Amino acid sequence: MTVKFGNDFLFGAATSSYQIEGAVREDGRTPSIWDVFSKTPGKTYRGENGDIACDHYHRYRGDVELMEKIGIDAYRFSISWPRIFPEEGKFNPEGMKFYKSLVNELVERSIRPVVTLYHWDLPLWAYNMGGWLNRDSVKWFVEYSGRVFEELGDSVSLWVTHNEPLCASFFSYYEGEHAPGHRDLREALIAAHHILLSHGNTVEEFRKLGYKKGKIGITLNLIPAYPATQSEDDIRAARIRDGYLNRWFLDPVFKGYYPEDMKEMYKQFVFDYDFIQEEDLQKISIKNDFMGVNYYNRELIKFSGDPELKFERVYGKFARTEMDWEIVPEALYDLVLRLRKEYTKIPIYITENGAAFKDSLLKKGEVRDTRRIDYLRRHLSEIARLIKKGMDIRGYFLWSLIDNFEWQFGYSKRFGIIYLDYKTQERIFKESAFWYRDLIKTRAIK
Ligand code: BGC
Repeated sequence: MTVKFGNDFLFGAATSSYQIEGAVREDGRTPSIWDVFSKTPGKTYRGENGDIACDHYHRYRGDVELMEKIGIDAYRFSISWPRIFPEEGKFNPEGMKFYKSLVNELVERSIRPVVTLYHWDLPLWAYNMGGWLNRDSVKWFVEYSGRVFEELGDSVSLWVTHNEPLCASFFSYYEGEHAPGHRDLREALIAAHHILLSHGNTVEEFRKLGYKKGKIGITLNLIPAYPATQSEDDIRAARIRDGYLNRWFLDPVFKGYYPEDMKEMYKQFVFDYDFIQEEDLQKISIKNDFMGVNYYNRELIKFSGDPELKFERVYGKFARTEMDWEIVPEALYDLVLRLRKEYTKIPIYITENGAAFKDSLLKKGEVRDTRRIDYLRRHLSEIARLIKKGMDIRGYFLWSLIDNFEWQFGYSKRFGIIYLDYKTQERIFKESAFWYRDLIKTRAIK
């Protein structure tokens, strides 16, 4: 059966600044928390870092040409905050020049720029002043965003304030897996709150500045948590896991409150919620123009005796990617229905979806990533099914355009539809890139 997409549906690809740019010391950029974290022994796979990454900072023109060859309608990238504000309150036009040229290049080739303002590379200066734990971070972020709006506002039609606040708070301040690598639940809750507040205030600033042409929203990574069995304990554990991963962000953004059950549960670790001030939640729940959803996998949850979060992750019968993530496209279908029912009717963009597999370059210069094609085809088919059911989904951004620095996993996980030879910086289309090109051209999955 052929599945068709409308002509207005945006087929895109996504990346982020620290994962692809390299050039970490150029044109006035100062370090971010990821520069420090990746250079701290034991934090990333083989101590790898983003010093060079895809060298995109120098090769962006060629990369945009590759995007044009694939035919993508839109390109989602992020701005490196320490390139734009290398010090508190100090704007750096040299750093901005790069993004202006990139945006021009995209616009010239009729590729829509989609800009994420924060994809985890907090400036080190901000971290040294307390980072997301300091309420002033909200002010710093709004100042930075406002400047970016002024500089790029005429050419950018979609803005994402934050990418995955879950990762920037819980994974970074509680689980210690991401920069800055702290392990403190209270800190994670404070960081999450300030990140969400900075989202709300940035949307407010955007409206104030009057960029009528552009639309703004936030991207959440949503990980549906299913109970491993229908036992009461497992159902409760899955509900808690859902609270941790999803509701802690969905509820404040779309309903203006934090989930009571989770608040109660966290209370024993945070003692009080004095970091939440009156009116904060009103600001956090400001109306967005669209919602960004990053979806990769679901989780299967079992009750455990763990005193803190009462869950254990188990695996079902599904095949997994190199990240050990179960491939369950149907869970994306259920997720969007749930969002519509419980949270919001605003347009949705799938701002990330994709898979890492062990790709190898064959002698003839080919990369046969059939499992990735299968992954993409199955997820896009679910999206088509949702659209058919009347769900307003306006676009899809595949993660990722090109193999890149996969955070704590360094370069060991390849998500790209373009293969990167890290030794030579040669870019090679994987079979999935040709597949995506044909899909975009015909707007049909066969
Ligand atoms: C992040 C990307 C990351 C991808 C794959 C998303 O959570 O936004 O930066 O590379 O997942 O792990």
